[in-house]
Amino acid sequence: MSDIQIIPTGGALGAEVRGLDLSQPLSAEQVNRLRAAFLDHCVLFFRDQRISEEDQVRFSRYFGNPVPHVREQPDRPIQEIFIISNVQENGKPIGALGNEELQFHSDLAYMQKPGSISILYAVEAPKAGGDTLWANGYASYDALDEDLKQRLAGRRAIHRHSRPQQNPPVPASHPVFRTHPETGRKVLYVSPHFTKYIEGLGEEESRELLDRLIAHGTHPRFAWRHQWRVGDLLMWDNRCTMHRRETFEDSQRRTMKRTQMFGDEPY
Ligand code: SIN
Repeated sequence: MSDIQIIPTGGALGAEVRGLDLSQPLSAEQVNRLRAAFLDHCVLFFRDQRISEEDQVRFSRYFGNPVPHVREQPDRPIQEIFIISNVQENGKPIGALGNEELQFHSDLAYMQKPGSISILYAVEAPKAGGDTLWANGYASYDALDEDLKQRLAGRRAIHRHSRPQQNPPVPASHPVFRTHPETGRKVLYVSPHFTKYIEGLGEEESRELLDRLIAHGTHPRFAWRHQWRVGDLLMWDNRCTMHRRETFEDSQRRTMKRTQMFGDEPY
Protein backbone atom coordinates (compact mmCIF):
# COMPACT_ATOMS: atom_id res chain seq x y z
CA MET A 1 0.00 0.00 0.00
CA SER A 2 2.84 2.34 0.82
CA ASP A 3 3.86 2.00 -2.83
CA ILE A 4 1.04 4.40 -3.83
CA GLN A 5 2.08 8.02 -4.20
CA ILE A 6 -0.52 10.79 -4.43
CA ILE A 7 1.04 13.89 -5.97
CA PRO A 8 -1.18 16.99 -6.03
CA THR A 9 -1.00 18.98 -9.26
CA GLY A 10 -0.47 22.21 -7.33
CA GLY A 11 -3.35 23.66 -9.37
CA ALA A 12 -7.00 24.24 -8.47
CA LEU A 13 -7.63 20.51 -8.13
CA GLY A 14 -6.29 17.10 -9.18
CA ALA A 15 -3.54 14.72 -8.19
CA GLU A 16 -1.41 12.18 -10.02
CA VAL A 17 -1.38 8.67 -8.59
CA ARG A 18 1.85 6.71 -9.02
CA GLY A 19 2.72 3.14 -8.14
CA LEU A 20 -0.37 1.31 -9.40
CA ASP A 21 -0.86 -0.99 -12.36
CA LEU A 22 -4.57 -0.82 -13.14
CA SER A 23 -4.47 -3.97 -15.25
CA GLN A 24 -4.29 -5.81 -11.90
CA PRO A 25 -6.98 -6.03 -9.20
CA LEU A 26 -6.43 -3.64 -6.28
CA SER A 27 -6.43 -4.49 -2.58
CA ALA A 28 -9.08 -3.08 -0.23
CA GLU A 29 -6.40 -0.85 1.31
CA GLN A 30 -5.39 0.54 -2.06
CA VAL A 31 -9.01 1.24 -2.97
CA ASN A 32 -9.61 3.00 0.35
CA ARG A 33 -6.56 5.15 -0.21
CA LEU A 34 -7.77 6.08 -3.71
CA ARG A 35 -11.30 6.86 -2.48
CA ALA A 36 -9.95 9.22 0.15
CA ALA A 37 -7.57 10.91 -2.33
CA PHE A 38 -10.40 11.25 -4.83
CA LEU A 39 -12.60 13.08 -2.32
CA ASP A 40 -9.68 15.37 -1.46
CA HIS A 41 -8.56 16.18 -5.01
CA CYS A 42 -11.74 15.75 -7.16
CA VAL A 43 -9.67 14.46 -10.14
CA LEU A 44 -7.10 11.65 -10.09
CA PHE A 45 -4.90 10.63 -13.00
CA PHE A 46 -2.68 7.64 -13.66
CA ARG A 47 -0.03 7.66 -16.41
CA ASP A 48 1.30 4.86 -18.62
CA GLN A 49 -1.49 2.37 -18.05
CA ARG A 50 -2.03 -0.54 -20.42
CA ILE A 51 -5.48 -1.81 -19.63
CA SER A 52 -8.22 -3.78 -21.38
CA GLU A 53 -11.89 -2.80 -21.36
CA GLU A 54 -12.50 -5.47 -18.70
CA ASP A 55 -9.76 -3.89 -16.55
CA GLN A 56 -11.37 -0.47 -16.89
CA VAL A 57 -14.79 -1.81 -15.87
CA ARG A 58 -13.26 -3.68 -12.90
CA PHE A 59 -11.44 -0.51 -11.79
CA SER A 60 -14.65 1.55 -12.19
CA ARG A 61 -16.57 -0.87 -9.94
CA TYR A 62 -14.33 0.08 -7.01
CA PHE A 63 -16.09 3.46 -7.11
CA GLY A 64 -19.67 2.63 -8.11
CA ASN A 65 -21.77 0.86 -10.68
CA PRO A 66 -20.68 1.65 -14.26
CA VAL A 67 -23.64 1.67 -16.64
CA PRO A 68 -23.98 2.12 -20.42
CA HIS A 69 -24.05 5.80 -21.45
CA VAL A 70 -27.48 7.27 -22.25
CA ARG A 71 -26.25 8.21 -25.73
CA GLU A 72 -26.71 5.42 -28.26
CA GLN A 73 -23.59 3.82 -29.81
CA PRO A 74 -23.10 0.90 -32.20
CA ASP A 75 -23.13 -2.44 -30.45
CA ARG A 76 -19.92 -3.16 -28.65
CA PRO A 77 -18.61 -6.14 -26.70
CA ILE A 78 -18.58 -4.43 -23.31
CA GLN A 79 -21.68 -2.29 -22.92
CA GLU A 80 -20.28 -0.18 -20.09
CA ILE A 81 -17.52 1.18 -22.35
CA PHE A 82 -18.50 4.31 -24.30
CA ILE A 83 -16.16 5.48 -27.05
CA ILE A 84 -15.24 9.15 -27.48
CA SER A 85 -13.38 9.60 -30.75
CA ASN A 86 -13.03 11.58 -33.96
CA VAL A 87 -11.86 8.48 -35.85
CA GLN A 88 -13.97 7.10 -38.70
CA GLU A 89 -13.85 3.52 -39.94
CA ASN A 90 -15.57 2.54 -43.19
CA GLY A 91 -16.97 6.07 -43.36
CA LYS A 92 -18.60 5.81 -39.92
CA PRO A 93 -17.52 7.41 -36.63
CA ILE A 94 -16.32 4.82 -34.13
CA GLY A 95 -17.32 7.05 -31.20
CA ALA A 96 -19.01 10.26 -30.09
CA LEU A 97 -18.08 13.95 -29.99
CA GLY A 98 -15.71 14.10 -32.99
CA ASN A 99 -13.18 16.90 -32.58
CA GLU A 100 -15.68 19.47 -31.35
CA GLU A 101 -15.01 21.87 -28.53
CA LEU A 102 -17.13 21.13 -25.46
CA GLN A 103 -18.02 23.95 -23.09
CA PHE A 104 -17.70 23.50 -19.34
CA HIS A 105 -20.23 21.01 -17.99
CA SER A 106 -20.81 18.41 -15.35
CA ASP A 107 -21.56 15.07 -16.99
CA LEU A 108 -25.21 14.19 -17.51
CA ALA A 109 -26.48 17.14 -15.46
CA TYR A 110 -29.51 17.06 -17.77
CA MET A 111 -30.65 13.83 -16.05
CA GLN A 112 -32.65 13.85 -12.82
CA LYS A 113 -29.89 11.65 -11.35
CA PRO A 114 -26.76 13.02 -13.04
CA GLY A 115 -23.35 11.45 -13.54
CA SER A 116 -21.33 11.07 -10.36
CA ILE A 117 -17.94 9.70 -11.43
CA SER A 118 -16.56 9.50 -14.98
CA ILE A 119 -13.43 7.60 -15.98
CA LEU A 120 -11.60 8.21 -19.26
CA TYR A 121 -8.78 6.11 -20.65
CA ALA A 122 -6.69 7.51 -23.52
CA VAL A 123 -6.08 5.05 -26.35
CA GLU A 124 -5.03 7.64 -28.94
CA ALA A 125 -4.04 11.24 -28.18
CA PRO A 126 -3.40 14.14 -30.58
CA LYS A 127 0.06 15.71 -30.70
CA ALA A 128 -1.50 19.08 -29.92
CA GLY A 129 -4.92 20.24 -28.75
CA GLY A 130 -7.77 18.20 -27.28
CA ASP A 131 -6.75 19.14 -23.72
CA THR A 132 -9.41 18.81 -21.03
CA LEU A 133 -9.79 21.39 -18.25
CA TRP A 134 -11.54 20.87 -14.93
CA ALA A 135 -12.96 23.57 -12.66
CA ASN A 136 -13.31 23.15 -8.90
CA GLY A 137 -16.94 23.76 -7.84
CA TYR A 138 -16.09 23.84 -4.12
CA ALA A 139 -13.54 26.60 -4.59
CA SER A 140 -15.82 28.65 -6.82
CA TYR A 141 -18.71 28.32 -4.34
CA ASP A 142 -16.48 29.28 -1.40
CA ALA A 143 -15.20 32.36 -3.24
CA LEU A 144 -18.63 33.58 -4.35
CA ASP A 145 -19.93 36.94 -3.02
CA GLU A 146 -21.94 36.49 0.18
CA ASP A 147 -24.82 38.52 -1.29
CA LEU A 148 -25.03 36.19 -4.30
CA LYS A 149 -24.96 33.14 -2.02
CA GLN A 150 -27.85 34.62 -0.01
CA ARG A 151 -29.80 35.70 -3.07
CA LEU A 152 -29.62 32.27 -4.70
CA ALA A 153 -29.80 30.04 -1.63
CA GLY A 154 -32.48 27.38 -2.21
CA ARG A 155 -32.89 28.29 -5.92
CA ARG A 156 -32.94 25.61 -8.60
CA ALA A 157 -31.96 25.65 -12.28
CA ILE A 158 -33.09 23.70 -15.35
CA HIS A 159 -30.50 21.64 -17.26
CA ARG A 160 -31.01 20.38 -20.86
CA HIS A 161 -28.85 18.78 -23.52
CA SER A 162 -28.75 20.39 -26.97
CA ARG A 163 -29.57 17.02 -28.60
CA PRO A 164 -33.29 16.63 -27.81
CA GLN A 165 -33.18 12.83 -28.04
CA GLN A 166 -30.71 12.74 -25.14
CA ASN A 167 -33.03 14.51 -22.70
CA PRO A 168 -35.46 12.87 -20.29
CA PRO A 169 -39.12 13.80 -20.89
CA VAL A 170 -39.22 15.95 -17.73
CA PRO A 171 -36.48 18.61 -17.66
CA ALA A 172 -33.98 18.10 -14.85
CA SER A 173 -34.10 20.68 -12.07
CA HIS A 174 -31.12 20.89 -9.68
CA PRO A 175 -30.05 23.21 -6.86
CA VAL A 176 -27.83 26.05 -8.06
CA PHE A 177 -25.70 25.22 -5.02
CA ARG A 178 -25.66 21.49 -4.48
CA THR A 179 -24.18 19.62 -1.53
CA HIS A 180 -21.64 16.88 -2.16
CA PRO A 181 -23.18 13.74 -0.63
CA GLU A 182 -19.87 12.43 0.73
CA THR A 183 -17.97 15.53 1.82
CA GLY A 184 -21.01 17.63 2.81
CA ARG A 185 -19.43 20.64 1.10
CA LYS A 186 -21.36 23.13 -1.05
CA VAL A 187 -20.69 23.28 -4.78
CA LEU A 188 -21.59 25.76 -7.50
CA TYR A 189 -23.55 23.53 -9.92
CA VAL A 190 -24.35 25.51 -13.10
CA SER A 191 -22.60 25.24 -16.46
CA PRO A 192 -22.59 27.04 -19.80
CA HIS A 193 -23.22 23.77 -21.67
CA PHE A 194 -26.34 22.49 -19.91
CA THR A 195 -27.88 25.07 -17.54
CA LYS A 196 -30.76 26.90 -19.23
CA TYR A 197 -32.39 29.12 -16.60
CA ILE A 198 -32.93 29.61 -12.88
CA GLU A 199 -36.44 28.69 -11.86
CA GLY A 200 -38.78 31.29 -10.38
CA LEU A 201 -36.97 34.35 -11.79
CA GLY A 202 -37.74 36.54 -14.78
CA GLU A 203 -35.88 35.70 -17.99
CA GLU A 204 -33.60 38.72 -17.78
CA GLU A 205 -32.71 38.29 -14.12
CA SER A 206 -32.09 34.57 -14.60
CA ARG A 207 -29.78 35.24 -17.59
CA GLU A 208 -27.89 37.98 -15.77
CA LEU A 209 -27.32 35.82 -12.68
CA LEU A 210 -26.42 32.71 -14.69
CA ASP A 211 -23.90 34.70 -16.73
CA ARG A 212 -22.31 35.97 -13.51
CA LEU A 213 -22.20 32.53 -11.92
CA ILE A 214 -20.77 30.93 -15.05
CA ALA A 215 -18.12 33.61 -15.56
CA HIS A 216 -17.13 33.11 -11.91
CA GLY A 217 -17.21 29.28 -11.89
CA THR A 218 -15.20 28.93 -15.10
CA HIS A 219 -12.55 31.49 -14.16
CA PRO A 220 -9.00 30.16 -14.80
CA ARG A 221 -8.13 30.48 -11.10
CA PHE A 222 -10.49 27.58 -10.34
CA ALA A 223 -9.33 25.45 -13.30
CA TRP A 224 -6.63 22.92 -14.06
CA ARG A 225 -5.62 21.65 -17.53
CA HIS A 226 -4.68 18.12 -18.56
CA GLN A 227 -2.70 17.38 -21.73
CA TRP A 228 -3.45 13.82 -22.70
CA ARG A 229 -0.90 11.10 -23.39
CA VAL A 230 -1.66 7.60 -24.57
CA GLY A 231 -2.08 5.40 -21.49
CA ASP A 232 -3.51 8.14 -19.25
CA LEU A 233 -6.51 7.21 -17.14
CA LEU A 234 -8.38 10.05 -15.47
CA MET A 235 -11.28 9.86 -13.06
CA TRP A 236 -13.28 12.90 -12.03
CA ASP A 237 -16.04 13.76 -9.62
CA ASN A 238 -18.95 15.42 -11.44
CA ARG A 239 -20.57 16.25 -8.09
CA CYS A 240 -17.95 18.95 -7.44
CA THR A 241 -16.33 19.72 -10.82
CA MET A 242 -17.12 20.84 -14.35
CA HIS A 243 -14.91 20.11 -17.33
CA ARG A 244 -14.35 21.50 -20.78
CA ARG A 245 -12.63 19.95 -23.79
CA GLU A 246 -10.69 21.96 -26.33
CA THR A 247 -10.87 21.24 -30.01
CA PHE A 248 -8.03 19.70 -32.06
CA GLU A 249 -7.10 19.15 -35.70
CA ASP A 250 -9.42 16.55 -37.17
CA SER A 251 -6.43 15.04 -39.00
CA GLN A 252 -5.13 13.96 -35.55
CA ARG A 253 -6.63 10.86 -33.95
CA ARG A 254 -8.05 11.09 -30.44
CA THR A 255 -9.80 8.05 -28.95
CA MET A 256 -10.88 7.62 -25.34
CA LYS A 257 -12.75 4.85 -23.57
CA ARG A 258 -15.13 6.02 -20.94
CA THR A 259 -17.05 4.47 -18.08
CA GLN A 260 -19.81 6.29 -16.24
CA MET A 261 -21.29 6.06 -12.79
CA PHE A 262 -24.51 7.76 -11.73
CA GLY A 263 -25.38 9.34 -8.40
CA ASP A 264 -28.58 10.26 -6.59
CA GLU A 265 -30.65 13.38 -7.13
CA PRO A 266 -28.61 16.43 -6.14
CA TYR A 267 -29.76 18.27 -3.01
C1 SIN B 1 -16.52 14.72 -22.03
O1 SIN B 1 -16.90 15.86 -21.84
O2 SIN B 1 -17.04 13.82 -21.43
C2 SIN B 1 -15.37 14.46 -22.97
C3 SIN B 1 -14.10 14.77 -22.32
C4 SIN B 1 -12.93 14.60 -23.26
O3 SIN B 1 -13.08 14.12 -24.39
O4 SIN B 1 -11.83 14.97 -22.85
